[in-house]
Amino acid sequence: MTTERPLLPAEVVRWLRKAQHVAVLTGAGISAESGIPTFRDAQTGLWARYDPRALASPEALANNPGLVWAWYAWRRQKVAQARPNPGHIALAKMERLVPRFTLITQNVDGLHQQAGSQHVLELHGNIMRTVCVAHRHPVSHWEPVAEGEAPKCPICGSVLRPDVVLFGENLPHDVFQQALEASQTCDAMLVIGTSGVVYPAAALPDIAREQGALVIEINPQATPLSDVADLTLRGPAGEILPALVRQVWP
Ligand code: OAD
Repeated sequence: MTTERPLLPAEVVRWLRKAQHVAVLTGAGISAESGIPTFRDAQTGLWARYDPRALASPEALANNPGLVWAWYAWRRQKVAQARPNPGHIALAKMERLVPRFTLITQNVDGLHQQAGSQHVLELHGNIMRTVCVAHRHPVSHWEPVAEGEAPKCPICGSVLRPDVVLFGENLPHDVFQQALEASQTCDAMLVIGTSGVVYPAAALPDIAREQGALVIEINPQATPLSDVADLTLRGPAGEILPALVRQVWP
């Protein structure tokens, strides 16, 4: 029986055990071990090969909806093949172990929900949902179109797009307000797998720390949020999160 080297100092374990409200902010890194490329990682980053402004922006949607549709169809296909990893599963377990748990994600892959997380705030939408450009009509079936074209809304005829936040677009207001309230009231915030460069999501850990929450970053790399964190755990979320849950809630 190998004794696991404790991941967390005793005072952090005590703090988490008595926390009434734990908030979590996740980014693309938590889905990396499910095979979904992150945005900015050098070796796998999607943006390394593509210019996001050319593919995931309102301008791209207006100028070339077919290209935006194809780009997201490719990403949707990768997401459809992906399964939750032990990091997602550990967070779903944690939700059942604390009195109040708020999972705020920048990811659009729906893997937290697939892992069993109940209360998920999707700041940037969900790639598996499709809406139309003109009225945001939710659409689940559409007429097939030629390669390079974007399908049309069966209700109003405008082109379809993924129900995700594109570069430069506003976040869903009510979702962000809930994320803000959770950051302002949590006793602890875990910041997992995000480069912490996209606002307003990246402001949430600072807001949590400002009101006295314990902030823990889980990421193999240092990020601008590392200085905000009280504790940084350098490693993959798929290994660290199960070990954290085992140590705090044996
Ligand atoms: P990034 O690709 O910017 O950052 C991914 C982070 O995950 C990096 O800091 C990696 O070091 C870390 N990482 C990689 N593998 C990991 C692992 N196994 N476990 C834990 N961390 C790991 O992705 P985000 O920060 O999520 O927004 O990007 C934020 C937003 O920028 C996205 O939501 C997207 C993009 O523009 C929109 O599309 C609106």
